[in-house]
Amino acid sequence: MKFFIDTGNLAQIKEANELGILDGVTTNPSLMAKEGIKGEAAIAQHYKAICELVDGDISAEVLSTEFESMVEEGKKLAAIHPNIVVKVPMIKDGIKAIKWFSDNGIRTNCTLVFSAGQAILAAKAGATYVSPFIGRIDDSGWDGIELIKQMRQIYDIQGFKTEILAASIRNALHIIKCAEAGADVCTCPLDSILGLLKHPLTDIGLAKFLEDAKKM
Ligand code: G3P
Repeated sequence: MKFFIDTGNLAQIKEANELGILDGVTTNPSLMAKEGIKGEAAIAQHYKAICELVDGDISAEVLSTEFESMVEEGKKLAAIHPNIVVKVPMIKDGIKAIKWFSDNGIRTNCTLVFSAGQAILAAKAGATYVSPFIGRIDDSGWDGIELIKQMRQIYDIQGFKTEILAASIRNALHIIKCAEAGADVCTCPLDSILGLLKHPLTDIGLAKFLEDAKKM
């Protein structure tokens, strides 16, 4: 399973990248706004800075909701760097745009996916990645991990090549469950990635080893 970090924060991206386990970055308009990035030039510059930090796929989301403008916007985003993947929302025009991008050699990440039906459409349109939002499904009283399992089963039976990119990850357990369910990628906040490190017995064990090392 590939590890992406889900943030627009350059310091967090750098910290995760220095672990040596980072395969890419996802952003969205909320995450970009949180970093105070405003205006077309600043947005493009920020994506460029992320691409220069991490050698992997970087999702950059279109802000339009209508086919022609999505295509124009996506072409501009893709021109920023070869590693840019154009993130497109799961709406009717989004599906048309994903098909256009796929036919024209531009890679895509279909976002805001909450059902198996949406996942089938994204794959049929030729999306490179599809992003089911695990945490938000859990928040609504359903089971996000069940959707990953269902998508894995459908994609394998049908031979779809679209990669399942589990998003809206809230904790380390989500990451473990996504790996178990067969997600191709998990995009996580830095805290969830670092949460994988934690176990009290590791801390207790290390403290004892360091204490005993003094007697060596
Ligand atoms: O990038 C999309 C997704 O990961 C958003 O997560 O925590 O806002 O539901 P969240």
